[in-house]
Amino acid sequence: MGTGSVQKYRDLVIFGSSEMALLAWYYFTHDTDYRVVAFTVDDSYSESFADRRHEKHGLPLVPFSQIVTEYPPSLYDMHVAVGYKGFQDGKLQTLREAKYHQAKNAGYNLASYVSSKAVTWPDLTVGENCFILELNNIQPTVKIGNNVMLWSGNHIGHETVIEDHVYVASHVCVSGYCNIGERTWIGVGATVRDFCTIGSDCFVTMDASIATKKIENGSVVIGAKSTILPVESPVALKLKTRYFNA
Ligand SMILES: CC(C)(COP(=O)(O)OP(=O)(O)OC[C@H]1O[C@@H](n2cnc3c(N)ncnc32)[C@H](O)[C@@H]1OP(=O)(O)O)[C@@H](O)C(=O)NCCC(=O)NCCS
Repeated sequence: MGTGSVQKYRDLVIFGSSEMALLAWYYFTHDTDYRVVAFTVDDSYSESFADRRHEKHGLPLVPFSQIVTEYPPSLYDMHVAVGYKGFQDGKLQTLREAKYHQAKNAGYNLASYVSSKAVTWPDLTVGENCFILELNNIQPTVKIGNNVMLWSGNHIGHETVIEDHVYVASHVCVSGYCNIGERTWIGVGATVRDFCTIGSDCFVTMDASIATKKIENGSVVIGAKSTILPVESPVALKLKTRYFNA
């Protein structure tokens, strides 16, 4: 049997050109077998507003209308790396979802990234175009849909299902047997109890603590804010004195 030519790297086009795209370039370049060969953005964006920071990597920024001919889906994969903005018709993160469909409809295989520094198990299922960063602790039997972003350091408990286009910021604790609905956004440090169903398009703000079993579609969950006592506050003085001088 001949050895043939073995391609060590697969080639990847990143959709986006701003901070999210540059981070995607970094993670894919340093922690996968992919080689990023180009960035792409919508034509209008590439002509007038494109952020030129991608140029420091010496890679072309190709208008989306030309990408299929210059970097055809038969030879190149794509990863859509845009931010979580967009709120339309009751839906959150509409930009990410729209660009995911745009790339998919153009025929691309949408590459997912799962950090080598995340803790995962062999039965993990992850859909297309996911971006799962370091120190996520994803327990056995978890199912993750398409276009899901898990920023660094979350705990995702066993039997939990995360549906398409969900964004989870950092240090979120999702307990076991939860279901997180499409496009829901969960802010830093939030805590979700076990057996909780969070609907679609929910905005779970930072430090929210969900102790109920059902959150309806479109809800906003607000965490308790810290009380900040100024230095001259008698209560502040009492607390510091007791705690640090006891
Ligand atoms: C929800 C969040 C966006 C609010 O931040 P903020 O805008 O700085 O907060 P503010 O205190 O200015 O509140 C904004 C508005 O909501 C209102 N609001 C805040 N908490 C409220 C509450 N518990 N009930 C009713 N209204 C409330 C405020 O009154 C204010 O309205 P106003 O401008 O008319 O006065 C913020 O707490 C949050 O969760 N951010 C996400 C951070 C995060 O996870 N980042 C990760 C990125 S990767």
